[in-house]
Amino acid sequence: MKSEFISIKEAMKKGKGKVAVRGWIHRERGSNALKFIVLRDSSDIIQCVFEKKDFQDSWNEIDKLQIEASMKVWGTIKEDKRAPSGYEIHAEKIEIVGESDSFPINKDLNEELLGDRRHLWIRSRKMSAILKIRSTVIGALHEYFRSKKFYEFQSPLMIPGGAEDGPSMFEIKYFGKKMYLAQTWQLYAEAAIYALEKIYTVAPSFRAEKSNTSRHLTEYWHTEMEVAWADLDEIMGYAEEMTKFVIKKVLEENREELEFLERDIKKLLPSLKKKFPRITYDEVLKALKDKKKIDIKWGKDLRTIEEEKFMEMHDTPVFVTHYPKEAMAFYKPADPKNKKVALCFDMLGPEAQGELIGGSVRDTDLDELKKSLKAKGEKLEDYDYYFDIHKYGAVPHGGYGLGTERLIKWICGLDTIKDAIAFPRTMARTKP
Ligand code: 4AD
Ligand code: MG
Repeated sequence: MKSEFISIKEAMKKGKGKVAVRGWIHRERGSNALKFIVLRDSSDIIQCVFEKKDFQDSWNEIDKLQIEASMKVWGTIKEDKRAPSGYEIHAEKIEIVGESDSFPINKDLNEELLGDRRHLWIRSRKMSAILKIRSTVIGALHEYFRSKKFYEFQSPLMIPGGAEDGPSMFEIKYFGKKMYLAQTWQLYAEAAIYALEKIYTVAPSFRAEKSNTSRHLTEYWHTEMEVAWADLDEIMGYAEEMTKFVIKKVLEENREELEFLERDIKKLLPSLKKKFPRITYDEVLKALKDKKKIDIKWGKDLRTIEEEKFMEMHDTPVFVTHYPKEAMAFYKPADPKNKKVALCFDMLGPEAQGELIGGSVRDTDLDELKKSLKAKGEKLEDYDYYFDIHKYGAVPHGGYGLGTERLIKWICGLDTIKDAIAFPRTMARTKP
């Protein structure tokens, strides 16, 4: 499809001569004889200058134009150091496409009001920078897994029962029956590896967690993978390689956006260059005791504050492995070498990001699975199909889940996970 219009970025690359662009008013100011419109499209912004003497017939309309009005502009572009993006278009023709009401967003709005007006706020340069990076991240995740010969596999999002933690499931009405929104694809993925061996997905997951924090959403995009024949080391290997692949892609493709967000890129570089340490839960407890004077009773899952304190000692993600079996989800098997710990890991992020990835080997021992489920108060009959999977040629396997928004939050250096997605869902926010 060829169009006479080019993007603002392309126009600036051209740098001189006639151009035609279209977009929305980012800023405007005027005088008796001149109107300056900074025009925005998805690629960049550019200043357009209108001289009254050239627009006698339409001056009234041009003069009235407000922020976010849309238009097509034809004119001559040249470099101008004083203009906001270093170039200026001297306008020769304009077509106003959509007028704009007074735009209800300004720099004085607090986070709550910006949240209410999210449908408009996503036009901001900050949000578009993040959304561009998000697009790179999601693209890179697909590219990574496909390059490693994984099949993309989809699981149902409406499910009859649990996997991670019963109380944090959203219940839905389903023709008079109860169903739930999926927290993970995992149990279905475990069925599918017997057909496809190496699979991945990037799909929504739902958590009814009553956590109003900077890293919890109730609906988030979960990047999950599951591999047949794999052991814990191999699974962590994929997690590390995937994380590096995504960071590298963003650094290649989104320098400008990272700069706009004032992200200190130096903080990401160690994660590209260094191997991520693999440290056991026991070693973490020891390090916290020795170096941070924090005493944790063996057997408890790590709390956010403890993870953060531990990660102050690292500038790359760290794999914390072999958590206490009792504190873990039912499907994480005991380590044959030490039955009190499970063959599992969390990948914690630096810069106080907390858990980015959770993964494990999967238990294929039916008696053990039933014992763990009972201990957690689950109804065994809900898991009949899951037990069935392990009756016909079970093989060792495992996988992980990445909180995609948590990765985006870290890469972009955002204060809150809510900005890592266009329309966040949290305990407090359901609109727009
Ligand atoms: O650690 P989780 O609960 O693990 C699972 O769901 C496994 N079944 C995944 C698997 O092995 N296939 O969740 C995985 C990741 C976490 O590490 C975290 O990054 C993210 O999902 N996550 C959330 N992200 C945003 N908001 C929430 N409420 C999240 N809960 C988990
Ligand atoms: Mg977890």
